[in-house]
Amino acid sequence: MAAKIKVIKTVAAMQSWSEAQKRAGRSVGCVPTMGYLHDGHVALIRECAKLSDRVVMTLFVNPAQFGPREDLARYPRDFEGDCKKAAAGGAHAVFYPSVSEMYPEGYQTYVTVEEVTRDLEGAFRPIHFRGVATVCAKLFNAVRPTVAVFGEKDYQQLKTVERMARDLNLGLRIIGLPTVREPDGLAMSSRNVYLSADERRRALSISRALFAARDAVKNGEDRPYVLAKRALKTIAAEGLIPDYVEVRDAETLAPIKKIAAAARMLIAARVGKTRLIDNVAL
Ligand code: PAJ
Repeated sequence: MAAKIKVIKTVAAMQSWSEAQKRAGRSVGCVPTMGYLHDGHVALIRECAKLSDRVVMTLFVNPAQFGPREDLARYPRDFEGDCKKAAAGGAHAVFYPSVSEMYPEGYQTYVTVEEVTRDLEGAFRPIHFRGVATVCAKLFNAVRPTVAVFGEKDYQQLKTVERMARDLNLGLRIIGLPTVREPDGLAMSSRNVYLSADERRRALSISRALFAARDAVKNGEDRPYVLAKRALKTIAAEGLIPDYVEVRDAETLAPIKKIAAAARMLIAARVGKTRLIDNVAL
C-alpha cells in the first residue's frame, strides 16, 4: 500500500496549501517532528487525523534547539521511510523545509518561554527550549493549523508549547498524547538507535524506576524525596549517570512537598554517550 504524500519545502507553498484546504472547508492539523519516525510519532499522526480533516507532519531537524556539544550532526535521518510511515498513519502532507528556508541569512528573532523552561531540561540544555519554542512558532505560522499534537514523552516541551500558544494567542489547540513504549517498557525515541544491546538493556532501568514510583504512590507513598531517592538508586544500579530525577507539579513543573492531585516524575540520564529522558504521571 504505497500511499502518496505531498512534500512541501517552502513556507510560502505551505501557507498557500493550507489556505486552499481551509477555503475548501477542511480543517488542518499539525504534528511537528524531527523525523526518523517510530510508532510514537505515528500515534500522534493518527490522533491528529481524528481531530482534523488534513494532517501536516513537519519534518525539520532544528539546529536552534541543539547545544554545541549535542548530537545535531549525527541525528538519524530517513526521509523516504518517514514519508511512508507518515502516509500510512494518515498524514496528507509533509512540510520539509531546509535550514536556510527556516533560518535565512540575517535571522535574529527568538521566542523565550520563561518559568516552565528554567530547570529540568532547561538547566542541562540552556538554549534548547528557546529553539523549540521558536521553531514551533515558525512551523505554526507556516502550517496555520487549528490543532497541533505533541507527545508526553517530552513533557516539559509539551508544557512549554502549551504556554507559548496561550501567551501568544496563537489560536490553536495543543493536544498531548501518552508516551508510546516498547513492549518491555522503554519509551520509544529516535535516539534509541544510538544504544548498544547492553546499553539498551540498562536503559530499561529508567522506565522500571518510573513505574515503581507510580506503584508506590498507588500504595500510599506520598513523599517526593523518597520516591526520587529510590528511582535514583534503580538507575544508578545499572550504571546510568542521572542528570535529574525529579517529582514535580504536573502543570507548573514546580517542586512539590507532597504528592497531591497531579504529580509527575521526570528522569534524564545518560547511558554511555546517549542521553535519554522519560516521565510518568504519579
Ligand atoms: P521529535 O523528538 O521528533 O518528536 C516529535 C513529537 O513526537 C514530539 O511531540 C514528541 O514528544 C513525540 N514523541 C516522541 N517520542 C514519543 C513516544 N515514545 N510516544 C509518544 N510521543 C512521542 O520533539 C521534537 O521532535 C522537536 O523538539 C520538535 C517539537 C519537532 C521541535 O523541533
